[in-house]
Amino acid sequence: MLDRSYVVPWGKRGSMSAGAEAAVLTELTHDSTRLPTGSRREGFERSFAETVGSRHAISVTSGTVALQLAVRLLDLAPGDEVITTPQTHRATVQPLSDHDVHVRFCDIDPATLNIDPAALEGLITPRTKALLLVHYGGCPAEMDTIMALARRHGVVVLEDCAHALGARYRGRSPGSLADLATFSLRNAKNGTMPGEGGLITCDRDDWAERLRLLRTADRGTRTVRTGPARPGVLPWTPYDGPLHRGSVRRPGSDATMPEAVAALGQAQLTGLWAAVGRRRALAGRLDEVLTRYPFITPQSAPAHSEHAYHLYTCFAERQELRDLLVLALDRRGVEIQLRYFPQHLLPQWRHRGHLRGECPVAERSWFDRHVNLPCHPLLTPSQEDYLVEALDESLAELNGGTPAPLAVSATACGRK
Ligand SMILES: Cc1ncc(COP(=O)(O)O)c(C=O)c1O
Repeated sequence: MLDRSYVVPWGKRGSMSAGAEAAVLTELTHDSTRLPTGSRREGFERSFAETVGSRHAISVTSGTVALQLAVRLLDLAPGDEVITTPQTHRATVQPLSDHDVHVRFCDIDPATLNIDPAALEGLITPRTKALLLVHYGGCPAEMDTIMALARRHGVVVLEDCAHALGARYRGRSPGSLADLATFSLRNAKNGTMPGEGGLITCDRDDWAERLRLLRTADRGTRTVRTGPARPGVLPWTPYDGPLHRGSVRRPGSDATMPEAVAALGQAQLTGLWAAVGRRRALAGRLDEVLTRYPFITPQSAPAHSEHAYHLYTCFAERQELRDLLVLALDRRGVEIQLRYFPQHLLPQWRHRGHLRGECPVAERSWFDRHVNLPCHPLLTPSQEDYLVEALDESLAELNGGTPAPLAVSATACGRK
């Protein structure tokens, strides 16, 4: 199955709007001498912050690194508690395992797959330091209720917005709805680099300054020139004299986004809204098919939000139907992926005492109900048509071979 080619593939590398990026690549090749020291990174960070509506954006090499640095910024101490979601990519939760903290997984809302505010309230204790949430698939979490709870208990909220570039919640962008946020620009995300990239957004000046320090490298022992080159003797030796301004003072990482990647990121921001628009249009067509079959439901975003459709998700009534749907679509050449295995059941978290039954809604969704369909702007119009037809045919097959009649449109039903 791995090397099979699909009529409708899950995703393609990158979502470049070729013209703009090609021009940037040409410009970069003519300007390569200035690449390490140029000003493109700062320009991209300013544009990104503006797009999201935050005061600062700090660019790094990936979403994983963005999460690692954001979690480091929280200065978590032994005994602190952090609440997070089980329904996410492992990179969301993984940085917490570098700290001696107690992680509590909060169950999710079955309709959105985001943290359920009702379940959250019961998990907050006087030791709760932070909440790390995700906007699953680009569907905004219910931030008003979540932030009100967090403020009441003095809990810092970190949004993982890896899926949420282009989403809206009450007219604002995820990434500006809490204290701190991270983004991923890896291939197949809503804004994608030819490779990888990540950003951290926040409003606090002191946090932005610290994050800029955390992302830069001190490259260890310096070398100094000790004399003219002589045959067989290297003119360089490690420097072990007193430290001066600018010399090594702290261990660091080397996580700064390369200039070339930032330049491409800037070009891609221009095409962001068109790409998100294509995702939404396809999602609307898929919704329309689903509304005709009673045993399958699309993910529903909060009424006052706009979904960014990094992932298109739907739910079957029960496991047998879900599995049959996956097989029927796969047989028709539609590549299906199921995202994500509940994090608390991964070996690294089971090892710390987390068990099946801890988040029953997340477990039922993954094991019995949810399916993700391909939904990205690099599908051609004929691939999109094929996907819509294949979905209809597959559901009809599950419906005893009877295609459901065309009913009221999904939009008319108020679904997003
Ligand atoms: C929800 C979520 N968070 C974080 C990441 C990590 O981002 P990156 O792949 O850029 O390291 C991903 C990656 O797919 C993700 O889906």
